[in-house]
Amino acid sequence: MREFTEDTITDAVLESVSAGREVRVRQVSSALVRHLHAFIKEVAPSESEWKAGIDFLTETGRMCTDVRQEFILLSDTLGVSMLVDAINHRLPGTSTQTTVLGPFHTDAPLFGNGADIRGHHTGPPMYIAGSVKNADAAPIAGATVDIWHADNSGYYDLQNIHRSAGIAGRGRFLTDVRGHFNLWTIRPCSYPIPDDGPVGKMLRAQGRHPYRPEHIHFMIQALGYRKLVTHIFAENDEYLDSDVVFGVKATLIRPYEERDGGVAPDGRQMSGRWFELQHDFELARDVEGQPGAAPVSRVGET
Ligand code: BEZ
Ligand code: FE
Repeated sequence: MREFTEDTITDAVLESVSAGREVRVRQVSSALVRHLHAFIKEVAPSESEWKAGIDFLTETGRMCTDVRQEFILLSDTLGVSMLVDAINHRLPGTSTQTTVLGPFHTDAPLFGNGADIRGHHTGPPMYIAGSVKNADAAPIAGATVDIWHADNSGYYDLQNIHRSAGIAGRGRFLTDVRGHFNLWTIRPCSYPIPDDGPVGKMLRAQGRHPYRPEHIHFMIQALGYRKLVTHIFAENDEYLDSDVVFGVKATLIRPYEERDGGVAPDGRQMSGRWFELQHDFELARDVEGQPGAAPVSRVGET
C-alpha cells in the first residue's frame, strides 16, 4: 500500500500519468498535474471553498447549450482565449493582427458588393469598405470576407428574442479583382457579454464590468493564405482600455467617421447622420508547419 502526504502526492500523480502512449498526452497531463497542484498548494482552499469551485464549474457546464458556451466565456474573460490566439498567430511583418472569434459567428448568406446587411437591426447607417492584399501589397481577388456585428442596443441576431427574426448584421462578400469589398449596415455599439451565468457572477466578484468596446467582426479567407479572424474597433470607445476579453490591439482601432448627408463613396445620396469605416487587411501566407496553420477552404466554402 502506498500512502501519500502533501509533500509526496504530486510526484506520485505525475508518475501515474507518465505511461500514456502519446507524447502529447504525457506532456499535457504532466503540466496539468504540476500546475493544478501548485495552485492548490498556493491557495490552500478550505473544504467549502473547494466545493464552491466544483459548484462553479458544474454550473458553467449546466449553462452551456447550442447557443451559449459558458466555458468559452470563462476562457475569454480569464484571458486564455487571447493567449491561445497569440501563441497560434505569431504573424510576420505587417499582417493584420488577430483577435477572439467570440460566440456569435454563424454561417451567413453570400451578398454582392454594395449590399445592405442590416436586416431587422436598426441604427444609423454605416458604410464599410476595404481591401484584402498580401505582404507585397498585391490585391487578393476572390477572398471571402465574412462580417458580423451587434445591433445598436448591443445584441447579435443570434441572441434571445431577436433570434426568431432571422439573420441581421451579418453576411459574406467576395473581394473583386482589385481586392475590394464594400457594404452597408448600421453602426453597432459597445455591449456587455452575456453575464447572467456563473461567468457574470465571477466578474462581479472580481470587481469587473462585462463590456466589450464597439467592434465589427471580420473573418477573411483566401486560398494559400492564413485564415484571419479579427475585429475593427471604434476609435475613442470608452472600453478600449478595459475590454472584458482582452481582445483589443492598437492596430485594430479605426475611426468610424461621422458624416452628415452628402454622397457616399458608392454614389448613394445620403440625408442625415451616417458613418463610414474604411480598412485594408493584409493576409499572411499559409506556410505549412506554422503553429495554427490550418487547411484553407476554397473561396465560397463555409
Ligand atoms: C464577441 O465579440 O462577440 C464576444 C467575444 C468574446 C466573448 C463574448 C462576445
Ligand atoms: Fe462581438
